[in-house]
Amino acid sequence: MIIRKLTDSDSEALFSLIEDIESTLVSRDFWLPIKDTSKEHYFDPSWTEFYGAFDGARLVGASALFYNPFEFGESVGQINESTDGVAEVGRSMVHPDYRGQNLLATINKELIVAAKEKGLRFLLATIHPDNVPSQTSFRKLGFVKRTTYFKSDGFVRDVYTFDL
Ligand SMILES: CC(C)(COP(=O)(O)OP(=O)(O)OC[C@H]1O[C@@H](n2cnc3c(N)ncnc32)[C@H](O)[C@@H]1OP(=O)(O)O)[C@@H](O)C(=O)NCCC(=O)NCCS
Repeated sequence: MIIRKLTDSDSEALFSLIEDIESTLVSRDFWLPIKDTSKEHYFDPSWTEFYGAFDGARLVGASALFYNPFEFGESVGQINESTDGVAEVGRSMVHPDYRGQNLLATINKELIVAAKEKGLRFLLATIHPDNVPSQTSFRKLGFVKRTTYFKSDGFVRDVYTFDL
């Protein structure tokens, strides 16, 4: 398995993986609908950096660092922190055929290295309280639950942080 940063030449593979994830969700509440503004910035490195796991040429998992407070401002506000020096780890996904190998944690370790290199203060992640695989993966990496809240779009989320 190779882990690397995605570029716009991976766009088709990423959107195809997202389709597979969205069509096999255990609960629709686990995956927030993707906003057009976010999608438009998926390959804008000042806003989003995706890392992916490849089995040969096949993209089988991905997770992103989001640098723009458009993505996480509401959640950071819930823990009374400033958005300076913060990035969100989000859009974490592993193809159903490849689950059970802690692949998300493997990808997220690369994100942590990248975030440290950028000199960020902390990482944020928001997870549905019942999303056990995601909760387990982030907790085992060292993310700490800070609060739980209902987002303005109605979705409930635990807010996790990881000090860099
Ligand atoms: C979340 C996701 C990326 C995790 O994929 P993964 O890295 O393959 O996760 P794993 O299957 O290896 O599971 C991670 C941990 O959760 C545990 N786990 C998984 N399913 C579980 C269950 N139903 N009950 C209890 N524990 C479970 C695993 O045992 C593992 O823990 P371990 O390291 O102690 O063995 C994947 O499930 C996914 O793509 N889900 C759909 C999209 C999604 O919900 N994304 C997250 C949004 S916050």
